[in-house]
Amino acid sequence: MKGIILAGGRATRLRPLTKITSKQLLPVYNKPMIYYPIQTLARAGIKDILIIVAPEYSGQFLNLLGSGNELGVNLSYEVQEEPRGLPDAFIVGENFIGKDDVALILGDNIFDHNFAESITSFKSGARIFAKQVPDPERSGVVEFDQNNKVTSIVEKPEHPKSDYAIVGFYIYDNRVVEYAKSLKPSARNELEIVDLHNKYLEKGELDVNIIEGMWEDAGTIDSLLRVNNLIAEKVKQGEQI
Ligand code: TTP
Repeated sequence: MKGIILAGGRATRLRPLTKITSKQLLPVYNKPMIYYPIQTLARAGIKDILIIVAPEYSGQFLNLLGSGNELGVNLSYEVQEEPRGLPDAFIVGENFIGKDDVALILGDNIFDHNFAESITSFKSGARIFAKQVPDPERSGVVEFDQNNKVTSIVEKPEHPKSDYAIVGFYIYDNRVVEYAKSLKPSARNELEIVDLHNKYLEKGELDVNIIEGMWEDAGTIDSLLRVNNLIAEKVKQGEQI
């Protein structure tokens, strides 16, 4: 299993913080944000990692992380010229993925969960992750049966059918490259991850694992502040994250 961190994007909600650097290089307590998704993958046993970056900040990522040696991982880099949507990761990352399965993590998603078990038990299809939240209408929402087979996924529903939000960590078999290439851009001119998941769902090959523990999307000023405080607490209590 290889890993991809999607660390491009526009980060408009964090301006002016992101006027001169990437969101994923901003501090989260005592480390740049990108360290957390790298550690999430490493903790899960994934050491071959592709970081997809926006063209203007590629040099900053390389200066900070280099080969990944200091963090115990092997890093490769690709530039995404335009933010064409999350499934574009598998088009930009096609050569890196080769014939392997792949885990994708969003560069601004911070977890303390260990995904190792979900990765070792993965055989084929797609596996997504959900967490019970008080405000599911802000995210993709998943409904599933007693076998963890997904029955529906809806993006930011007005009336969510469950309180399980889909988080920014996903596992796919190698068909994801072919499926991503077959997607058409949506009304907002992006490839949509929900369309990718629907391809697997139609075949009955999409399952969901529930996670507990911390999950934050650090993409807004308030969530960035919240995650900084959460990590500060954990570090002061001697937790490794
Ligand atoms: P978002 O937070 O949805 O988008 P954004 O980072 O551009 O922020 P904003 O909405 O404030 O303008 O993206 C989720 C993550 O995925 C984030 O880490 C950036 C990354 N991303 C890419 O690298 N390329 C893309 O094409 C998209 C859509 C997102």
